[in-house]
Amino acid sequence: MAAISTSAPAKTILFGEHAVVYGAPAIAVPLKALRVKAIIQPLLASSKSLVFIKGKNTIEQFHIDDLPADNLIKGTFAVFEKETRIRISPFKLTIISKIPIAAGLGSSAAVAVAIIRALGEFSGIKLSKETVSKIAYQSEVIQHGTPSGIDNSVIAYEEPVYFQKGKGITYLPIKKKIHLILADSGERTLTRDVVESVRNCMVRNPSLYQNIFDSIGKITNAAKIALESGNSKQIGELMTQNHTLLKSINVSSPKLDLLIMRANEAGAFGAKLCGGGRGGYMVAISSEENRSKIVEQLHSISPYVFETSVGGE
Ligand code: PMV
Repeated sequence: MAAISTSAPAKTILFGEHAVVYGAPAIAVPLKALRVKAIIQPLLASSKSLVFIKGKNTIEQFHIDDLPADNLIKGTFAVFEKETRIRISPFKLTIISKIPIAAGLGSSAAVAVAIIRALGEFSGIKLSKETVSKIAYQSEVIQHGTPSGIDNSVIAYEEPVYFQKGKGITYLPIKKKIHLILADSGERTLTRDVVESVRNCMVRNPSLYQNIFDSIGKITNAAKIALESGNSKQIGELMTQNHTLLKSINVSSPKLDLLIMRANEAGAFGAKLCGGGRGGYMVAISSEENRSKIVEQLHSISPYVFETSVGGE
């Protein structure tokens, strides 16, 4: 059998992170150009399955049996076998990812989706997007404890989604192209830790936190209409309002706030942190004309900046 190669994209949450864990709606879009690749090849029946993780200048190699149960790759593999009731024959799996880890771009869900797609093809079964998303969700549970389900959904479906926990996903058609600029704060905090710290604060002050999450939910619903009609200026204003609320629950960082301020000074319609926060990436929305000025400003204080556009296809 020839090698099987699959991939999955990163994502950014445009509205509603953290609030989505408590039932508020959220909106996320796939970042199709930024992907993780999974390549799988068969090994002899007597071999032990191998995993190679290729970084920029590194290669790590493991026997899958030696990985801990809560390891992302081992966990995804175990959930896949349990859900499909297929026993996978020995393989060599190579993971090559361009998605930064713990940066709010959904790297763990993307790795899980790429592996599930590869294992599906390797075992000769056709998995629906729904099944891929479901298996990736269970892998996320092993990683994060209480994921909302938005990451596995937007990454498995590869479409902009309006998502509410327990209610599933709705595709969100973005008819006019919107321009996004993403910049790395260079800081990293695990999503699991930030979510847990928000939960501790919620337990101490439930009514305040519930009010904030309700307000974020209202912003997300207004943003859904603005995205559908392609009103970038209004989307930007709502992103900035969403960021102010994320700051109030202490999931931003001085570096993220600085990047957001610089993007706005350079002419962005608005900006916010994206994903778990306390580091990772911020996302700004811009007009076509202001893009290069914003990128230039952000480049001077960020280790990595990239542009993308969504919608209008
Ligand atoms: O940091 P990321 O890319 O895993 O995004 C996390 C989004 C949260 O809303 C904070 C958590 C979740 O499960 O939805």
